[in-house]
Amino acid sequence: MSIIRTQVGIVGAGPAGLLLGHLLHLNGIDSVIVENRSREYVIDRVRAGVLEQGTVDLLHAMGVGSGLQRAGLRHDGLYISFDGQRHRIDLAELTGGKAITVYGQNEVVRDLIEARVQTQRPLYFEAGRVSVTALESTTPTLRFEHNGDECEVRCDFIAGCDGFHGICRPAIPESVLTVYDRVYPFGWLGILAEATPSSDELVYTRHERGFALFSMRSPSLTRLYLQVPPDEPIANWSDEAIWREMMVRMSTRDGWRPNVGRIIQKSVTPMRSFVAAPMRHGHLFLAGDAAHIVPPTGAKGLNLAASDVLVLARALKAFYEDHTTAYLDSYSDVCLRRVWKAQRFSWWMTSTLHRFPDANPFDDQRQIADLDYLTSSRAAMASLAEQYVGLPAEVPLEDAGLPIGGSSEPLAGRRRDAVQAQVDDHLPVDVPGVANHVVHDPDLR
Ligand code: APR
Ligand code: PHB
Repeated sequence: MSIIRTQVGIVGAGPAGLLLGHLLHLNGIDSVIVENRSREYVIDRVRAGVLEQGTVDLLHAMGVGSGLQRAGLRHDGLYISFDGQRHRIDLAELTGGKAITVYGQNEVVRDLIEARVQTQRPLYFEAGRVSVTALESTTPTLRFEHNGDECEVRCDFIAGCDGFHGICRPAIPESVLTVYDRVYPFGWLGILAEATPSSDELVYTRHERGFALFSMRSPSLTRLYLQVPPDEPIANWSDEAIWREMMVRMSTRDGWRPNVGRIIQKSVTPMRSFVAAPMRHGHLFLAGDAAHIVPPTGAKGLNLAASDVLVLARALKAFYEDHTTAYLDSYSDVCLRRVWKAQRFSWWMTSTLHRFPDANPFDDQRQIADLDYLTSSRAAMASLAEQYVGLPAEVPLEDAGLPIGGSSEPLAGRRRDAVQAQVDDHLPVDVPGVANHVVHDPDLR
């Protein structure tokens, strides 16, 4: 068995785990990331693609913003469409210059894996039988199999960044966890099409046949979604049927509609709202989808994951640098305040724009009145804009060891060295026969 000693064991190499690993690295804190899927699978997984202003600032401040700078599409506004008419909401004008950036989550993950590899800190893909134990002790353990080898990671803390279906949340005793859950009676059928986006900005459409969303990934790739039943087999939808339905729902009276192109990816995703609280048990900290799921209508999933790990990075930095646990103790409460506001916003966007199977004519008129008010009241538009671009961060970037002002440069070497010295002071003395850092994944070099 290989014994690996580290400060923070991270389960999952999605956005949450990779962002946390890099934030810790920038503060001289060691981590081991363990992912059960392959590197290709993680990078190719098509997910949402809207980054809040704060997430963009975070990626730049962490020095991992060059792909985003090159290929991200800044959007200063979005459209809400109903009754055959699009209404623009000017996000930038309503929020004092803030915007969102469209950049695929898989691109974010690709950039972060590259950054991780450069740090030469361990990242294991295709780990089998991942488990966590001794969570209530000061020496929690993360075990897994890798290339036929049994590995045991001995940590000070474990970060459960393993998504909704991971093993960390279920490792918390049921008696200490409260779960809040709502499953929606519909899902989204999403496609990626080789078509020039026919709008520079996203279009959220309410239609009597159901919700539709126009988005994009690049100047030549259009991303579109349709509300469908939650368990809809994708085989029910030929490409022709998809385009027909897109046109019916999205076309507006002024003649706008999406451009058609070859469909290169399609899938159906169910929708739910979910929160598990608290987000900490002993020395296990949950972050991202492991602790909460939002329906994608508000585009908050990745952004919430980023915000959790920023809060966690500050807490771990304070623990190692100042030997204080106050930020670790407040981690769950600080995250959950933002999580619940994002839950409320995502639920509202979802309920206002989707057709519920049991909706009656009263519900239809109420939805239309809601959208009519939204698109005609500056106060209502400002409220949507403020939430869509992202509420103010819980933690100033500098509190998590990042440069003030969002420079795209990584932390200066001088500062890292100072932090590293403090971390080394804190590290427990090696147990005889226990290697401090073992193997890096050879596939990653
Ligand atoms: N062991 C190791 N890794 C695991 C395990 C396990 N038992 N179970 C799951 N994982 C991995 C998954 O393969 C995935 O790569 O954990 C990672 C979790 O990543 P995400 O699901 O992307 O979750 P998170 O990092 O919290 O990011 C949240 O992802 O689902 C979207 O909309 C969501 O945008 C949001 C973002
Ligand atoms: C996307 O581009 O994938 C996307 C955009 C906005 C959303 C959800 C997904 O609300």
